[in-house]
Amino acid sequence: MLSISELTKTFEVRKTAFSIKKHVISALDKVSFFVEKGETLGVVGESGSGKSTLARCILMLEVPDSGTITFAGADLMDLTHNQLRTYRKRMQIIFQDPYSSLNPRHTVYYTIAEPILFHHIAPKEETRKRVIEIFKNVGLDEDFMNKYPHEMSGGQRQRVAIGRALATNPALLIADEPVSSLDVSIQAQIINLFMDIKEQYAITMIFISHDLNIVRFVSDNIIVMYGGKILEMGTKEEVLNHPLHPYTQMLMNASQGKFSHYKGQDIIDISGCLYYPRCQRRKAVCKNSVPPLTGDKDHMVACFKE
Ligand SMILES: Nc1ncnc2c1ncn2[C@@H]1O[C@H](COP(=O)(O)OP(=O)(O)O)[C@@H](O)[C@H]1O
Ligand SMILES: [Mg+2]
Repeated sequence: MLSISELTKTFEVRKTAFSIKKHVISALDKVSFFVEKGETLGVVGESGSGKSTLARCILMLEVPDSGTITFAGADLMDLTHNQLRTYRKRMQIIFQDPYSSLNPRHTVYYTIAEPILFHHIAPKEETRKRVIEIFKNVGLDEDFMNKYPHEMSGGQRQRVAIGRALATNPALLIADEPVSSLDVSIQAQIINLFMDIKEQYAITMIFISHDLNIVRFVSDNIIVMYGGKILEMGTKEEVLNHPLHPYTQMLMNASQGKFSHYKGQDIIDISGCLYYPRCQRRKAVCKNSVPPLTGDKDHMVACFKE
């Protein structure tokens, strides 16, 4: 369904606004994985680990430096502009902050109806019927039809954003930190909604969060990212019940609010494992050699074992 191979993306940045010397940040470094149709891949990692860059590359909002993205049999980097537009309709993204992703001047009804009309998803006279159906599926009361984003709560707004994404019947849904801006009490409701959607729509999903405790509910498989690399990946059961990488173990223990931001610049001086400077279990070999991602299909880890 979705196959990513050796995906690499770098950014050139200046250390300060005035410095002449540029640094190359490796936002994605040879990332490879596969998502089966109807499955949800959880992507977890601290801020700065490359999760959003991954999402943007899959949608081709950002052009990767190298690697391949195959979606429903087509190599996305080979597509023409027009072909890409057709594919975009089949891939939708939901962002962290529903307030900035919704047009403040559009009613909730129009927000969801617009993509149906624009992409000719249903005959015009059936648009209303389809919008009502989506309202039901995302748990919005029909009374909200004529409301504007500012008249709603954060959770309700995220429901609208999810409804809009579902309006085109996408084959792939990418949710980038979809509950991170919501109150903890609302988070569970929206996570439940994602679980419902997974069942109802048989949709392929990439669910991104910095919090392993959030990813666990919706994911079939999980990848753990750090500094643009996958450090661990596998089935949800394997990764959660037998976490092998010290970084994954740290993420499991980290409670909300204790996550740190990974600065891309840090990695320039590291020739071994990216996690070496922070690792509790580091060994001499980890300093100068990069541990390869090894294991079997159900569980892989990039760590030199004891
Ligand atoms: N447009 C950009 N220009 C320069 N650096 C960027 C850009 N986008 C992302 N980065 C850098 O790439 C790295 C990964 O960022 P990002 O994908 O946003 O991580 P995450 O979503 O996991 O927080 C970070 O070091 C970030 O600063
Ligand atoms: Mg992000």
